[in-house]
Parts: sequence; structure tokens; C-alpha cells
Amino acid sequence: MSASSIASAPLKTILCGEHAVVYGYPALVTAIDLRVRVLSEPLPVGIIEVLSEGFGSWREYALNVAKLVEKRRLKHPLQYPIVAVYLTSRYIGEEPGSRVVVKSPAPDGSGLGTSAAVAAACICATAIRYGFNLTPPMIANLVQLCERFVHETPSGIDGTAVTYGGTFVYKRDEGPEFIDAKPLRLVVAFTGIKHRTADLVRRVRRLRAKNREYVDTIMAAIGEIAQEAARAAVQGDLSLLGEQLHANHLLLRQLGVSSKELDRLVETALNAGSYGAKLTGAGGGGCIIALVDEDVQYRVLASLQNVSASTWLVVTNAQGVHREDISEQ
Ligand code: MEV
Repeated sequence: MSASSIASAPLKTILCGEHAVVYGYPALVTAIDLRVRVLSEPLPVGIIEVLSEGFGSWREYALNVAKLVEKRRLKHPLQYPIVAVYLTSRYIGEEPGSRVVVKSPAPDGSGLGTSAAVAAACICATAIRYGFNLTPPMIANLVQLCERFVHETPSGIDGTAVTYGGTFVYKRDEGPEFIDAKPLRLVVAFTGIKHRTADLVRRVRRLRAKNREYVDTIMAAIGEIAQEAARAAVQGDLSLLGEQLHANHLLLRQLGVSSKELDRLVETALNAGSYGAKLTGAGGGGCIIALVDEDVQYRVLASLQNVSASTWLVVTNAQGVHREDISEQ
């Protein structure tokens, strides 16, 4: 067992296809070069502690965590990484005793897969400290177990993106199909409003229960857009991809998951010269993405900075979860 270890996992963004993916249609997803970093250190057996900028710290006894896992009810956001550490220790046959220090570039509820990235980095760092190099499918399965604590029925998108990285078309029953997409530049802008994915998925389900034909037509159109967008991403056709992003945003609006804040950010990005922009993730709050190139990136970034809580200029196709060299930190 080593004294400490560090692992990092990327955040993700859904380029096209959120919500429709819940009903079996394809979504286009990519990992972005914003990474959650986790340092794992030993603590006496039976104690798991997490420290996180902005959230403070939380300590649980392994016995309590076992009960939490059984009841699947978390009282505090920091119990989530604690569960990830607990499940990983149990999975590799070790008695849990760890402190994890979590650093995330974006808050949870921003629609960028923060919870899955935190889980993946905790899982990887914990296993490495005990001398285990878990395979990506093992990590993805553990992330999916953890995700059930935050999302009622996680589609598996976030777990796949943070574990494997890259860009892929995802179908609920078939899993990911990785594609050879060109790296894209995106400006990500956060409304500052956190959302709960489960609430928005429920909102769409209610709308579908009332007007099934209408919602299914929208879902099918979103599915087609996602496939078309995947082809544009492989060809590096920014104009076509931008059009698909915007068309997808308008359909998500019809599903009732956009908001005036999200629409305003999309409008701002388009006016500043973005190829296309849309909300990303569940909606209701969270973030938008705006497709840019080197020529317009700073203009779009500056315009969005004036009207957003946070902005990031990112590149897609980032690497999945991996160990970091501790001497470089
Ligand atoms: C949330 O990031 C994306 C949704 O499609 C839900 C899911 O895929 O689990 C809204």
C-alpha cells in the first residue's frame, strides 16, 4: 500500500441528445479538458474522511457508510465521495480507512457530470493506493453504482465519459460507440443555477404522459440530430455541427427544460459569433455550450463572461480517468 495517490477524471458535456437518450435515442457525448483531481491518503481502518474546497470536510465511520449504502439516502453532498471510497475498498477486499481531498473545477448541479467525475477519481485513487489497477469496465461499473445515489436512473452517459474519455454516441440499451471526432473548442457558461437531473427527467416524463405523440416526435427529431451531429464532428464541419446544436436547443425548449437564463446565454453566444449553442445536460439551470473556433473563441468567451456565473474555454475528446504522477503536484 502506498502512502498517497492522485487520480483525475474529466468532466463531460452532452453535445446533442439529452433527455431523448432516456427513451432509447442516441446522444452525442464528449469528455472535456476540465478535470476533477482527488488525492487519497491513509487513515486508520474504519474512518473515511473527505475534504473539498467550498464544501469543507465530512467524516464517517465505515459502519455508518454501510448503513447509508443500504438505505441509499445521503444527507450531505460530501457523503457521496465517501460512498465511492467505501465501495471501492470493499470491492478490492480491503477494510476502508482513507482521507480523500477533492478538487473540482465546476460545482455539482452544473450538468457537466461532476458527480461521476468525483466518483471515478475517488475510485481510481483509492484502488491505486492499495496497489490495484482497476480496468476501465470495473471503474465504470463502480461509478454507475455511485451514480444511483444522486440520479434515480442514471443512463450511464456520465460514467462512460469520465471513465473512458473521448467522444461517443450513446444509446441506453447498446452503450457507447466511440467515434473519431475532431477535437472541438467550446465555451461552457454556467447560469449559476444548480439543477437536479431527476426532477427534470420527471418533468419530461409528465409532459410525455400528457402528450405522448408530441413528445415522441420531438425525441425522434433529437435522435436524428445527434446522429447527424456525430457525422459533422467526425468531418470537423463546424457550420453543420453548430446548426445541429442550435436545432437541438430549440427542441429542448419545446420539451420545457430550457429557461430564460439558458436562452439568454445561448442568444449571447450566437450574437458573439458562435457556430451554434445549446443547453447541455438536464437543463432547468446548469450550463450552455457554444461551439467556437480560434477566431471567435475570445469574443464569445468575453460576451458570455458578462452574463454568466462562470465560463470555461474547453477542448473536447479529453482522456478518461487516470492516475496522476504525485511528484508533479
Ligand atoms: C443529464 O445529464 C442527461 C439526461 O439525458 C439524463 C440522463 O441521460 O440520465 C437528461
